[in-house]
Amino acid sequence: MIPSLIHTVLPLTSRKRNMREALRTYDRTMDDFLRETQQLLEDPLDTARLQQISAGLQAQFAPKLQASDICMLPSYNHKLPTGLEKGTYLALDVGGSTFRIALVELNGKQPGAKNMRIVNMKSFKIDEKVRQRRGTDFFDWMAEKIEIALAEAPPQKVDNMDSFPMGLSWSFPIEQTSSRSGNLLDMGKGFHATDGVLGQDLSKLIMAPCRKRNLPVHMDSIVNDSSATLLSRAYEDPSTRFAVILGTGFNISVHLPVSSLASTKYKGYPRKWLDEATHVLVNTECSMFGKNVFPTTRWDDQLNATHMRPDFQPFEHMISGRYLGEIVRLIIVEAVRTAGLFSGEIPAKMNEPYSLDTGTIAAMEMDGSKHLTNATALLQSKHPLSKLPSYNDIQFVRQISQLISHRAAGFLATGIHALWVLRTTAEGLTPASAGRMSIGCNGSVIEKYPLFKELCQEHLNELAIASGAESGSIKLEIAVESAIFGAAVSVCSLEGQ
Ligand code: GLC
Repeated sequence: MIPSLIHTVLPLTSRKRNMREALRTYDRTMDDFLRETQQLLEDPLDTARLQQISAGLQAQFAPKLQASDICMLPSYNHKLPTGLEKGTYLALDVGGSTFRIALVELNGKQPGAKNMRIVNMKSFKIDEKVRQRRGTDFFDWMAEKIEIALAEAPPQKVDNMDSFPMGLSWSFPIEQTSSRSGNLLDMGKGFHATDGVLGQDLSKLIMAPCRKRNLPVHMDSIVNDSSATLLSRAYEDPSTRFAVILGTGFNISVHLPVSSLASTKYKGYPRKWLDEATHVLVNTECSMFGKNVFPTTRWDDQLNATHMRPDFQPFEHMISGRYLGEIVRLIIVEAVRTAGLFSGEIPAKMNEPYSLDTGTIAAMEMDGSKHLTNATALLQSKHPLSKLPSYNDIQFVRQISQLISHRAAGFLATGIHALWVLRTTAEGLTPASAGRMSIGCNGSVIEKYPLFKELCQEHLNELAIASGAESGSIKLEIAVESAIFGAAVSVCSLEGQ
């Protein structure tokens, strides 16, 4: 730590506090603290340094493309949609905190109609109680919700089919065994649904309680949410080859030549698929990479050390919505104790792990008012202090949040760049000849965090130029409601395969 400058905080309004605080000294000033934090968080964002990190990630990808049961997972989707596919499907989206069931209409670029349309949608909260449901209990809960959704808005039968085709977007890893089935892998995100049924077929687990309830549905496709996002964006923009999810969780899906993965990764794939497919949609589970590649600060190390599964998703720990607020909280707590932030008082609940929401720091960053009144009121409502925080204190929190979110945007760009190099090489292209490529993006952080997407795009442009490609050749595009739409597009595009 930087040598300390003794700094005494004076004066405070109440006499009592005044006495107490006057006796209290801090290791350093807030300015010193901020300077050190800035250096730690901004130094790695230099383009040359990001290029090194990208090379480090590429070196970690290589062995996992050869062998790994938990990342670089191929799907059965090999063709991207043309955008002309048509149909109506029931789309299911199991996310970290909601289960959504929607009737989706794909109109295949018909004049006068929206390309993709949600006819109706029902959303169910996945709260802690649902997350605690073990094994078949969780899938019973899903079937119950599907029954409710069907009862409220019964879909019209098409082509005399006696049951309705469903597509599922699954925000967890899955080992696909066909386009409509896959073995359940560890879910993370606090879910207990795998208890006692780990490795079992996800489709059967969902369909068994649906059959018990006589629901007129069948499972036609299962895809990871990142792959759903890619499919949904590709339906609109044929230059889409990647998708990024960055909300509570993080993932990247990539359309790669089949030969990028070892043949053992296609164990059990039918001969017909292997003969026909030139490319394959790969769920990279990118969150698992980056250990010893990304430079960490003492706060990242603290977060990791107290995590339920340390080292499991190091990349996610630095960039996703579940963690941005937590890193800022760890910094705030240290700044209160060592530099006299908030006059040395820990705001209410701020001592509790994961108490500071990423939504709160995003909203504080967004406050454009002269006196930061909104940011002050927000912090005071979520984490009250005995007296209103000063302008400088609020500005400090905003600056820390900006540094953390900016680092996350730079690191995300680096992960994308590493996969882009992988794809470019696998396609036998060079950065200069690779052409323009679009990336479908979904999730609260990339969609809503102030300036996040723009900062990520800037870093991507710099990395692309440094690699010999044109600026803007890798373009981030928001894919709205992509899990729901992608689940439907997947069913639709598999119909022709
Ligand atoms: C987590 C999951 C991954 C999912 C991502 C985004 O990292 O492991 O499967 O795609 O979150 O929801």
